[in-house]
Amino acid sequence: MAFIPKVLSLFNLTLALLLSHISVVVVARHAQWSGTETKSNNQNNRNIQNSDHLVSNLPGQPNVDFRHYAGYVTVNEFSGRALFYWFYEAWSFPEEKPLVLWLNGGPGCSSVGYGATQEIGPFIVGTDGNDLQLNPYSWNREANMLFLESPVGVGFSYSNTTSDYENLGDDSTANDTYAFLHNWFMKFPSYRTRTFYIAGESYAGKYVPELAGLIHDRNKDPSLFINLKGILLGNPETSDAEDWKGLVDYAWSHAVVSDETHKTIRESCDFTSNDTWSNNDCSQAVDEVLKQYKEIDIYSLYTSVCINANSAYSENKAQQVMFKKTTSKMMPRILGGYDPCLDDYAKGYYNKPEVQKALHVSDGLHLKNWTICNMDIFYGWSQSKDSVLPIYKKLIDAKLRIWVYSGDTDGRVPVLSTRYSLSSLGLPITRAWRPWYNQKQVGGWLQEYEGLTFATFRGAGHAVPIFKPSASLAFFTSFLLGESPSSHR
Ligand SMILES: *[C@@H]1O[C@H](CO)[C@@H](O)[C@H](O)[C@H]1NC(C)=O
Ligand SMILES: *[C@@H]1O[C@H](CO)[C@@H](O)[C@H](O)[C@H]1NC(C)=O
Ligand SMILES: *[C@@H]1O[C@H](CO)[C@@H](O)[C@H](O)[C@H]1NC(C)=O
Ligand SMILES: *[C@@H]1O[C@H](CO)[C@@H](O)[C@H](O)[C@H]1NC(C)=O
Repeated sequence: MAFIPKVLSLFNLTLALLLSHISVVVVARHAQWSGTETKSNNQNNRNIQNSDHLVSNLPGQPNVDFRHYAGYVTVNEFSGRALFYWFYEAWSFPEEKPLVLWLNGGPGCSSVGYGATQEIGPFIVGTDGNDLQLNPYSWNREANMLFLESPVGVGFSYSNTTSDYENLGDDSTANDTYAFLHNWFMKFPSYRTRTFYIAGESYAGKYVPELAGLIHDRNKDPSLFINLKGILLGNPETSDAEDWKGLVDYAWSHAVVSDETHKTIRESCDFTSNDTWSNNDCSQAVDEVLKQYKEIDIYSLYTSVCINANSAYSENKAQQVMFKKTTSKMMPRILGGYDPCLDDYAKGYYNKPEVQKALHVSDGLHLKNWTICNMDIFYGWSQSKDSVLPIYKKLIDAKLRIWVYSGDTDGRVPVLSTRYSLSSLGLPITRAWRPWYNQKQVGGWLQEYEGLTFATFRGAGHAVPIFKPSASLAFFTSFLLGESPSSHR
């Protein structure tokens, strides 16, 4: 999930960025990360270390044969920062399958609320908010899937030091996630040297390369080595200038705004400037784009919006916070049709005492207040990289596998934004643009570059697996194998 703040708020964000001070981060001691992990590959030892996080009586959960674990991992003892994770072992032969970390974006949105229970996890939250439904296309059919609520303040993740919430940014998030991984490996030592991938969508388009870059750098120290093999990105925010240009061009080419509005933008907006919004013509024309998008679901142009009398979001709030309302308008596909109100069901489910107890979040009496996105984090974000394309270059040089996909009915991080970003890398094309197939239909189009694979998903919105669950699983399988998706019907 990614939000667009009001243009004015963007300006404030820039100011906040300038004024932000660097938080003091005490990184967990390296010594505690190395040495102890590899000694125990055996089952018994593993159970001793993580059995307290085994989830055994989750309300409304379908019966399954795989194990799953949830709980907190401390990333900084000094300030008392702890991140919440939910880990599903692979459906079969977990010890032979890779480990994949999945991240959602925002910044401020939950990977549990989106990734795990709306998109690619084995349990999809039901329409009554009371139970879970089995997802036959869960990505844990092919990999051990780790979902992390990051940074602190997102979902169940927290800090005991209030000022931590005020200094959140890309770098501190990468640092904490990195510390999380090492501390998580202490609890799950059999995964310490496992083949590892990082995947994510939307604002995680920034998180994923940033974390991969950090792992790559730290891997120079053998005692810190993590066996990272590649990254997978869906409708990813990548380069602010390219992303904005793609957003406005897509809105025009998909008949959301007029020729006149688009012409004004083209003539007055310089998205590469650090001062884009001081131009009034530009600012007003972009506001017009956002105004039109408020009428529909920017994340899925051709599906209905959530009209729900019991919705947690009132019209009033929608006026105050541009696009806040759209966060309750995702268009998941569940049995029998689309249901755009799933965010609300997730909120209902994760605030139940028995659920929080089963996930080792609270004692069931003193509850945590779970929301799918934390808007304070979104608006307070104090440091963001303009572009992660330089990190792409570094990872390509390091021969990591990089696959980027894009649902082509998303207006938020549209396929055009991604194409502008990737084409600016200037990579040589190794296999020309062509369709790829799933279940005898065109799943989308594919272009392979030296060091990078790009694919579209035809007719999918922002959170691709919600719209195309079967094609997404097939595509994920291809990614893990490093084999192009099928070019034959
Ligand atoms: C945060 O504070 C609570 C209450 O003192 C404590 O139980 C908890 O362990 C602390 N969390 C961390 C990560 O230190
Ligand atoms: C991230 O960690 C590095 C290395 O420990 C440190 O130098 C840097 O200040 C940290 N950055 C933030 C924003 O926490
Ligand atoms: C914007 O960029 C210009 C030229 O690179 C620089 O002089 C100026 O300080 C920057 N302004 C801000 C607000 O970052
Ligand atoms: C839970 O968080 C929401 C959003 O931050 C807030 O509006 C609400 O008052 C909180 N509820 C409780 C019980 O703390």
